[in-house]
Amino acid sequence: MKLIFALLVILPLAFPSEGSEISVTNGGRWGDWGEMVMCPHSYRALGFNLKVERSQRKGDDTALNGIGLLCQHTEHHNLNYTISSSEGGWGSWTTYQDCGSAYLVSFALRVEVFQGKGDDTAANNIQFSCSNGRVLSGDGMSWGGWGSWSGWCSKGICGIMTRVERPQGKGDDTALNDVKFRCC
Ligand SMILES: *[C@@H]1O[C@H](CO)[C@@H](O)[C@H](O)[C@H]1NC(C)=O
Repeated sequence: MKLIFALLVILPLAFPSEGSEISVTNGGRWGDWGEMVMCPHSYRALGFNLKVERSQRKGDDTALNGIGLLCQHTEHHNLNYTISSSEGGWGSWTTYQDCGSAYLVSFALRVEVFQGKGDDTAANNIQFSCSNGRVLSGDGMSWGGWGSWSGWCSKGICGIMTRVERPQGKGDDTALNDVKFRCC
């Protein structure tokens, strides 16, 4: 009886169902959440790209500024559509990476912890795991460390929502801080 109860509690957490969200616990603390932006109906995410500001040397670094999802039609694989939620104003978009004939199911975030009087950048990079077990590592920056993996979307990822800090004027900018994905 206890085992059945434990499974009823644990399974939904391990395998979020349709419409649930996957997140990580090491996201940055600054900024506001943007809109949850979804792939079109019958599409799911098979790839991604990043908006990254490269090192500013003595200037104010922001590192990761945006995350784009490449959505593909589940039957007509020649049809694709790109989406993103809030993004920062710095950096440029990298080229897309994708899972080939598989799709995105889980992610981990590389985040720099609070630097005190130093230059904060918050989120730096992301990696995704594909439904075929392959891991795609983003072409972001390397400050901070990787956190643990999010939950798992068994039917894939269909939506994205990012937390981005607005420009701080003469203050320390961090741009993208955290991200969540909606399961298909
Ligand atoms: C989207 O689909 C078109 C047509 O199949 C293809 O040429 C293009 O490379 C795809 N875009 C990406 C980013 O994969």
